[in-house]
Amino acid sequence: MKRAVCSNGRSAASDACCIWFDVLDDIQQNLFDRGECGEETHELTFHDAIGFSPQGGGADGSIMAHFDVETNFHANTGVDEIIETQRPFALKHNVSFGDFIQFAGAVGVSNCPGAPRLEFLAGRSNDSQASPDRLVPEPFDSADTIIARFADAGFSANEIVDLLASHTVAAQDRVDPAHQGFPFDSTPGVFDTQFFIETLLVGTAFPGNGSANQGEVESPLAGEFRLQSDFELARDSRTACEWQSFVNNQNLMAANFRAAMAKMAILGQDRNLLTDCSEVIPTPKAVSNTPTLPAGKSRTDIQGSCSATPFPSLTAASGPATSVPPV
Ligand code: HEM
Repeated sequence: MKRAVCSNGRSAASDACCIWFDVLDDIQQNLFDRGECGEETHELTFHDAIGFSPQGGGADGSIMAHFDVETNFHANTGVDEIIETQRPFALKHNVSFGDFIQFAGAVGVSNCPGAPRLEFLAGRSNDSQASPDRLVPEPFDSADTIIARFADAGFSANEIVDLLASHTVAAQDRVDPAHQGFPFDSTPGVFDTQFFIETLLVGTAFPGNGSANQGEVESPLAGEFRLQSDFELARDSRTACEWQSFVNNQNLMAANFRAAMAKMAILGQDRNLLTDCSEVIPTPKAVSNTPTLPAGKSRTDIQGSCSATPFPSLTAASGPATSVPPV
């Protein structure tokens, strides 16, 4: 089949995909500052999409279109900044907010070494309704509440774990505003399995101000931040085995994340009405990190929670106890 001719000598299977090469050039240069592993952009894919229930909503750009409503929801506190940063790009290229949010998220993830190359489908309408409040999970929600919320949106308990691989390239700013940039694992710039290992370690202290904020529990490493929700899902019998299965299996983690993200990105959309423009998403750099116990930790610090399978044996990093700098 004849391919559509796009800018700068590139081509695509569909004409409708050419515009995304131009958006790609623009955001890599001007949104990701030449290709950084952009975290807020892919957090936004979640906050837009999970505003879905069988009544409607989903990955429809409503968080940007109905900014005045949705950013007032407690769980969306602070995402206003990235929405404001992104909106002019969507308007400039005349693409829908829903498409733009998912595209920027997929490109942001592609800038993280070790990540899978995510699917990107284009063609979401720019018409949306504001989502109702209380659909975005909070870090202080119980495992029951989180699992029920995701089930309402069509996700299994295992798929929550698959999506949470995103927390391997993530940090907090708003749970403890005095300690912004404290990451959820020791390698926040790399899409590796350390998040799934480190969340299972015994918590020893609150980094930063030494006391708990709402939705925070003790973390195992200086400078690392632990969300209560990650702590609980790592140990809950409904999610613990999927969690542990990623500890030393980068390929499984990446493949399951890709599949769950593909599902999340079209919540509330009809897949058959969208055009597959995944070929525009860059291929992420591979990594060959060996999953390790952070220096200073041993197997006895692991709170193994999957009753079906023993915790895999890992090498321990040597040297002084690992401490994590903010991102
Ligand atoms: C159980 C469900 C989830 C809960 C309770 C949760 C909660 C949180 C919280 C509280 C933060 C810190 C925000 C801040 O203080 O700035 C955060 C960060 C983040 N989350 Fe989640 N999250 C969940 C699932 C997800 C999913 C499914 C994704 C994406 C697929 C995601 C992507 C991210 C990213 C990328 C960040 C880092 C943002 C940044 O560095 O600015 N999260 N999450």
